[in-house]
Amino acid sequence: MTDELLNHPGALTGDVRPTASYTLRVNGVERPVSDAWIGESLLYVLRERLGLAGAKDGCEQGECGACSVQVDGQLVNGCLVPAALAADSEINTVEGLSGSGGASDVQQALADSGAVQCGYCTPGLAMAVHDLLQRNHRPSEIEARQALCGNLCRCTGYRGALAAVQTVAEAREAALEAELDAAEQAAATAAPDEPTAAAAPPRATEQSFADLPLAGELPLYADSELWHEADQLIPPQAQAEPVVQDWSAPADAVYAAPAPAGWEPTPAHGTAADGALYGTPAQGTPYLPTPPHGTPHQEPGVYQGVPHQDPGFDGTVYATDGYGHQYTGYQATPGHDATPAHGIRLPEDENA
Ligand code: FES
Ligand code: FES
Repeated sequence: MTDELLNHPGALTGDVRPTASYTLRVNGVERPVSDAWIGESLLYVLRERLGLAGAKDGCEQGECGACSVQVDGQLVNGCLVPAALAADSEINTVEGLSGSGGASDVQQALADSGAVQCGYCTPGLAMAVHDLLQRNHRPSEIEARQALCGNLCRCTGYRGALAAVQTVAEAREAALEAELDAAEQAAATAAPDEPTAAAAPPRATEQSFADLPLAGELPLYADSELWHEADQLIPPQAQAEPVVQDWSAPADAVYAAPAPAGWEPTPAHGTAADGALYGTPAQGTPYLPTPPHGTPHQEPGVYQGVPHQDPGFDGTVYATDGYGHQYTGYQATPGHDATPAHGIRLPEDENA
């Protein structure tokens, strides 16, 4: 390639613009490029010399991803790759996504999920999704976000693109499952003495995991359900010895921990408390019996320091319960004056 460039008659012609002729292999087709300045980007050559305008020119600085193409299976920004250096490489552009001419499943999913508005970012986005799903058949959302973070879209946000990734992944997985099931059925129904030309390949889910490599070398499977089974092969991590409490020790050995400095230990049960604080009688002091119901209080009580004279029983019967029982004891709450009719002035109102 280097010799080809240096020996080409167009090289170093003119003042400062060395040129070269080379052939690009784009989407499986050989495309010759003649007398092109060797500094021309792959994006420029694809669009301006080869007429493949799918890759878009957004920033020419590798920032927006609108020019995304694959070179030897690697997603690159076409604006940053000198085309002459891609002469021996396999180049895939968005025009090659669909072999039949219609939209590929990725392109269709992007359109269906609302990820296309002005469409300027869409070819690059489609290439990024295509590249992601080639490498990772069942990407998580975070993996999809990482894969698409180099593709800027100023119109739609990225929810639609992320949904498209999941849609295509699920559809491809379902199609693969159906294909494998069909192959298995065909193998099962074939006569034993009649070997089938297309014997069903062993399904990944039915392989013996005993022969598979252990953690660190786990293979990638098209069937993502295998990850659960593959996880079983990972040797368990060494666990720290659990601390076991010896509950057979004498109770005082467990609970007789020294009291924190500065605090007196709780006194033994039955120790007379400091009467000055709470007035609690020492344990064992007999309580006075409760007087019979209706016995008038003999001593004025003290409530929050204010003497209170109990009115005592005045003999008035306040109510019966309909069975002849009389309820007596305390004076009735004096009746309230009726609320005056609306509009009547009260004495307090004079000062209002
Ligand atoms: Fe290439 Fe923006 S045009 S990254
Ligand atoms: Fe307009 Fe993405 S659809 S920039």
